[in-house]
Amino acid sequence: MMIKMDSRNLLYEGKAKSVFQGESPNEVIIGFRDDMTAGDGARKETMGQKGYINSIICAKIFETLEDAGVKTQLIELCEPCVMKAKKLDMIPIEVIVRNIATGSIIRKFPFEDKAPFNPPLIQMDFKDDQFHDPMLNDAIAIALGIATKEDLDKLRELALEVNEVMTKMFKDIGIILVDFKIEFGKDSEGNIILGDEISPDSCRLWDAETLDILDKELFRQGKDDEVINAYEEVFNRLLSEEDRVKWNL
Ligand SMILES: Nc1ncnc2c1ncn2[C@@H]1O[C@H](COP(=O)(O)OP(=O)(O)O)[C@@H](O)[C@H]1O
Ligand SMILES: [Mg+2]
Repeated sequence: MMIKMDSRNLLYEGKAKSVFQGESPNEVIIGFRDDMTAGDGARKETMGQKGYINSIICAKIFETLEDAGVKTQLIELCEPCVMKAKKLDMIPIEVIVRNIATGSIIRKFPFEDKAPFNPPLIQMDFKDDQFHDPMLNDAIAIALGIATKEDLDKLRELALEVNEVMTKMFKDIGIILVDFKIEFGKDSEGNIILGDEISPDSCRLWDAETLDILDKELFRQGKDDEVINAYEEVFNRLLSEEDRVKWNL
């Protein structure tokens, strides 16, 4: 298979992934790297196998979402670490869905630690490392010109659909989906599509029995040596025998 991950085709090098122009104008190739960062990139380490694991977890989640009728960027996982995707005009908003209160939300507001949110709490942050991803409201997003009221309503609707599908998907493998961050973009026809990635880098995942952390929070806590084992645990529970055959794993 010809995969053009040539630096001449590099569109954008982010903190964890590299985005390359695909063969057709409406396609990109997303390379999942082993780089892991915390604190807006202040701390950066290389975690062996992370790109491999995350790309496959992401493809599996995107496929499950597609089956449930949620449009995603996924065209195909060409091979581990290499995702062919629809090229999107990204909306610089991090849409965060919270089922349980933890992390920044309990530092900023007097929510009780581990209290459930019913209905799920949707938060939108401005995706801009220089400004440290400040929390948005509709008025600010509209004034910045990054989304219309209709776009914002659509983002909330899609985020809740994603949450429903993923909550079930993880519950079935004994994992609590605590919260997650997603990003959307517009395709060439202006449709809002789920882009970027969903992986243990962008979700909080707790073992349903032990409440052990199975996500990037371990890295934020400095438990670097536990990160890959936790990601592998998610990978092993999520991937069926069929998936392994399909992707030659
Ligand atoms: N389908 C897509 N088309 C174009 N750009 C995308 C797509 N999916 C994700 N992106 C962008 O590519 C970058 C992915 O790399 P990442 O390492 O996550 O970057 P960042 O450091 O900005 O979070 C992000 O900026 C993301 O918004
Ligand atoms: Mg990112």
